[in-house]
Amino acid sequence: MEHLVSSWYNDRSLPESYILPPEKRPGKLTVPLANNIPVIDLEGHDQTDIIQQIFEASQEFGFFQVINHGVPSNLMDEAMSVFKEFHALSGKDKAIETSKDPNKSCFIYTSSANYATEKFHLWRDALIHRCNPLEKYIQFWPEKPPRYREVVGPYTAEVRKLGFRILEFISQGLGISLGGLVGNQTLLVNHYPPCPDPSLTLGLGKHMDPVFINILLQSDVYGLQVFKDEEWIVVEPIPNAFVVNIGFPLQIISNGKLKGAEHRVVTNSNVARTTASYFLSPSNETLIEPANTLVDASHPALYKSLPYKDFLIKYVAASTDSKALEEALSTTV
Ligand code: OGA
Ligand code: NI
Repeated sequence: MEHLVSSWYNDRSLPESYILPPEKRPGKLTVPLANNIPVIDLEGHDQTDIIQQIFEASQEFGFFQVINHGVPSNLMDEAMSVFKEFHALSGKDKAIETSKDPNKSCFIYTSSANYATEKFHLWRDALIHRCNPLEKYIQFWPEKPPRYREVVGPYTAEVRKLGFRILEFISQGLGISLGGLVGNQTLLVNHYPPCPDPSLTLGLGKHMDPVFINILLQSDVYGLQVFKDEEWIVVEPIPNAFVVNIGFPLQIISNGKLKGAEHRVVTNSNVARTTASYFLSPSNETLIEPANTLVDASHPALYKSLPYKDFLIKYVAASTDSKALEEALSTTV
């Protein structure tokens, strides 16, 4: 665990292994704050209106935020507190608290899953664990901080409900049914310590999520950016909101109607940033292919069909290069 950024960042300038090649550096960090990522009020309108707003946001940005979403704000605050407390533990404690399952349904890593082989490292630590069914997995979650299970159990149950509700809105917008295709539900708690030189490195490089949707809790610290029309735009932190984004499998299933948006995380030199992604993923056998009802003579299938487990192999092989992934899965290239 000596590699975790949070174990050593205090004493050091940016090590060379964290310096990105020039074309990948974030460079100028003041990207325009033209905030047009839609904010959708889940209580403010009738259902048809909400479905329409979610559909349009998913089509144009692949990103939106939701407010009045039903997850109690005190639960969101408590969850954020225990996530921060977890990442503030000693490296030794973090190692102990994440090694309870020999099948690795819970573990900790730094940078990316390929730390040992990657060309450069990313400025982040990550705790990841399965969430559903709760009775099966909670026994492997951290017991430090002492309230972790007590808070994160109900938190993930609430976010799960919200996730299925949003997936249902998306299903209705597309005229297909997605809820029955969900498999793994995973929580990824990211931690980005203050960074000595945010212009040279990233917390997370440009990527698309390999899931149906991600329901993200971000704190009040900026860092998340979305790539749209060849520009980076900022996802503004809004108190008590969740950020939702569409993953690449939904771009395929919707035959390109919805956008699996590319995004990244920049660091800052003042404060740590902690976030929690709740991923709703397809089950392994789910065929990732354009839905029949969305394919016809004037809308040919844009993507090949393959089971989710094979999609994941291609996703890993493309190593966050979305163009390479598109090419590997496209019917026309
Ligand atoms: C992710 C992700 C964004 C953030 O976990 O895939 O993009 O702000 N997280 O941490
Ligand atoms: Ni992501």
